[in-house]
Amino acid sequence: MNASVAVFDAYGTLFDVHSAVARFADALDNDAARISELWRQKQLEYTWTRSLIGRYVDFWEITREALNAALATSGRNDPSLRTALLEAYRKLDAYPDVAVALAGYRALGLRTVLFSNATVPMLMTALAATGLTGLVDRTFSADDQGIYKPSPRVYAAVTESLGVTPADVLFHSSNAWDAAGAAAFGWRVLWINRAGRPREYSWVPMTEVVDLHAALATTRGNTASDR
Ligand code: LAC
Repeated sequence: MNASVAVFDAYGTLFDVHSAVARFADALDNDAARISELWRQKQLEYTWTRSLIGRYVDFWEITREALNAALATSGRNDPSLRTALLEAYRKLDAYPDVAVALAGYRALGLRTVLFSNATVPMLMTALAATGLTGLVDRTFSADDQGIYKPSPRVYAAVTESLGVTPADVLFHSSNAWDAAGAAAFGWRVLWINRAGRPREYSWVPMTEVVDLHAALATTRGNTASDR
């Protein structure tokens, strides 16, 4: 049986989280890469800590708090730079393989769904900025559950809203921990290993591919061999 719906994580999978800082590379000089990595790492850390503590705030607030931490660590406290970086995060670049892959999945007869920690308004803005709005059938946010990935609750809520079984979902995420959460819940998972990282979470099944072109090719191959 093939999946009927292709679900995609947003940040790191469709949108390049480092494209915001990249636009300010001159101002940040040697600190740029470190600030960008720390911003992302703190953003994820805060989703996990707030979920475990039970003190939810939405992903925009998480992103703002994480940027403050990253800038403070580097001793960069220019308020106008902080505001500009945060605004840049609303309209990140999409990776070059995204549009073709989304269209390709649709051509295979799969619905295309975005599922992210980010709020729906954040996702709508990001999709519009990258011209991808028309390629996504539905958009879901963990915000509806008031808890973040990889809580099983958020994968369950999406499955239920789509009216499918977990095995009907083919999930795509570049975030290994998110891929693991989805696989543990029972979704089929393609880990989009854009950064060429070593395999993690080997206690759950997932298929590793380098990018979304490879993901689509793998899915097309499975679809053909099932016919
Ligand atoms: C998201 C995070 C995992 O988009 O990047 O949900």
